[in-house]
Amino acid sequence: MGLYSSPFRVIFTPHKGKGIVIEEIARVSTPSESERKRARELGELISYHNERYHLLDSPEISDAEFDALFRELVDLEARFPELRTPDSPTLRVGAPPLSEFPVALHAEPMLGLENATDEVQLLDFERRARKFLGEAGEISYECEPKFDGLAVELTYEDGILTRASTRGDGISGEDVTPNLRTLPTIPLKLTAPHPSLVDVRGEVVMLLEDFKELNDEQDERGLPPFANPRNAAAGSVRQLDSKVTAKRKLTFIGYGIGRLAGFEFNSQLEAMEAMADWGFLPNDSRVLLSSIVEVAAYCADIEKRREEFPYEIDGCVIKVDDRELQARLGNKSRSPRWAIAYKFPPMQARTKVEDILPSVGRTGAVTPVAELAPVNVGGVTVSRATLHNMDEVIRKDIRIGDMVIVQRAGDVIPEVVRALKEERTGEEEEFKMVEHCPVCGAKVTRPEGEVVYRCEGLACPAQLRGRLRHFVSRRAMDIEGVGEKLIDQLVDTGMVKDIADLFTLTKEVLSGMERMGEKSAKNVINALEEAKTRELGRFINALGISHVGEATAANLAAAFKTLDGVMSASEEALLEIEDIGPQVASSIISFFTDEKNVETIDKLKTLGLSPAQPEERSGEDSLGGAIFVLTGTLSVMTREEAKETIKRLGGKVSSSVSAKTTYLVAGESPGSKVKKAEEAGVTIISEQQFIALVSTAQSKPETPTPGNVKKHLSQQKLF
Ligand code: IVH
Repeated sequence: MGLYSSPFRVIFTPHKGKGIVIEEIARVSTPSESERKRARELGELISYHNERYHLLDSPEISDAEFDALFRELVDLEARFPELRTPDSPTLRVGAPPLSEFPVALHAEPMLGLENATDEVQLLDFERRARKFLGEAGEISYECEPKFDGLAVELTYEDGILTRASTRGDGISGEDVTPNLRTLPTIPLKLTAPHPSLVDVRGEVVMLLEDFKELNDEQDERGLPPFANPRNAAAGSVRQLDSKVTAKRKLTFIGYGIGRLAGFEFNSQLEAMEAMADWGFLPNDSRVLLSSIVEVAAYCADIEKRREEFPYEIDGCVIKVDDRELQARLGNKSRSPRWAIAYKFPPMQARTKVEDILPSVGRTGAVTPVAELAPVNVGGVTVSRATLHNMDEVIRKDIRIGDMVIVQRAGDVIPEVVRALKEERTGEEEEFKMVEHCPVCGAKVTRPEGEVVYRCEGLACPAQLRGRLRHFVSRRAMDIEGVGEKLIDQLVDTGMVKDIADLFTLTKEVLSGMERMGEKSAKNVINALEEAKTRELGRFINALGISHVGEATAANLAAAFKTLDGVMSASEEALLEIEDIGPQVASSIISFFTDEKNVETIDKLKTLGLSPAQPEERSGEDSLGGAIFVLTGTLSVMTREEAKETIKRLGGKVSSSVSAKTTYLVAGESPGSKVKKAEEAGVTIISEQQFIALVSTAQSKPETPTPGNVKKHLSQQKLF
């Protein structure tokens, strides 16, 4: 969210606009009545949207729109200082904390950052800094990505995490200590020599992969998806029940220091290095640059590579590296003079809904899709966006002809956030759901209790295309070379009538298809051959059973071990599985009792498909029989939960230490077991290490864990 407090009059042009004019205001004049009125209106509007954004995690307007309001007020107040009321939102940096959490007063205010949106403003930032310092020496800048998450502060006393709080309005936030203690990337105890007191500041983010997984789970449970990773992270941190937070995969990335005692840094870079030594994730995409021109090049480069990051970033932060210079530059009321944010264009944009069309998916779901006037959203042209379902169209009241805000996040399908109703002309048309499938003409109905409309056509080519696309996709059977174009041709020519037909394809048939050379045909055949022994979980996911996504499919494979086992599982047995409730169980049973489906699966088997047993029950056995002994008080998990987790992951729990013990988990005030373990040469781990261990064991290999997040981040070396 943009903040600006400047003695300059700033005329902002749209992000991609050419010049940005900054002129110092010399005159002080009296505002007109309409300017007074607008200032009051802006004050109200900003406070309202601030609350929606910071408190309710449910913004109604885009960041860009908010910034425009904010800037307009800053501008008015700069021109007419008498309009700056004591409660003006420009004097605040957010909204007050939620009442349910204890209030956490920040010992040193958590300031915001002034924004720059182009090179001119970066140069101006340096010009002002030099002017303030009154000298022309070299200034080095430490630059980092600007993480789009939730700002938090972690207080460590004598190296122990004693308080974790959200930024809130910068002066006070919410005390979310129990919640943040559950994050594997937040050390409960600092390692290496550390200060006697330190406030570590940083951002809690949700990695894009984790965001996708969370929304898939929400979907499987019939819950609404989170709008973006930032909201998901903020919502997860602000759970009154910290067990919910613990289940959400959140990542902390440190970027600064508040109070500091018994330690010294000469530079921001040193502080970042120390944080890595204390046990925080190193943020390897930071760089030290010796001129503001290089800084501008860095910002442009990061902007280009924005989508390569495993989390969302919305800009770069540029900090004067030298701590002494930082101290000399000091702060303005809400932002330091030694740092600035370079903001990227928003991942939201305004455009027109030219039409709303029904689109038929693989399960026969008929989804309303908005056809948009093409618009650039954070560097990608978007011309279609999902409206999810009819209920959403009605709830958001989106009509054909509306001007709307569209948003995209990572590789998630773009969506329409809201309609700009105030811009309606009266020409807009409401969308009515079709009665017949636009592809096969069969009836479209809405099953009892569901939000989606479905095409009833069993042989609907649109459904078949969707099923095939899902079947071959990376997270399902991962069959390379079978793309959309090929699928369309295979369906249109009637060569493929169900998923099993894929495995009847020959090199000759394939090389007859458009844009298919002999070599690509051979590659497809090889890919199909290789896919015949894909893991069972992937195969089940690939079948496209309603309500069964990747996670549930993996659980099914782990529990029943064979395809026949899954196919013949009883309702009771299905309900035993985590994440499977009556609705999902009934969907699985109805899928495997459908004659057509059974026939297709038999055909697949005959064609040589034999999904492999999950290796050693993968996640389930990942503790590989290790023997754990617990001692002392655990603060994040209860003892029961710890035991359950160990058993679930294939470990054993014992009550006494012996030479056979693999790990002793020592909580607070551990007993004599520690000594015994030391004598027996048993590895002693803290609760924090234990959590890291089980969360690594729980995650599938490709899922980020503290360990591979580190790897991931260090692969982000940019300079
Ligand atoms: S430094 C005094 N570094 O941006 C300087 N902030 O307006 C304090 N943010 O909500 C901020 N990534 O949480 C800094 N690498 C980074 C950042 C970062 C994201 C957020 C911060 C705050 C906002 C500042």
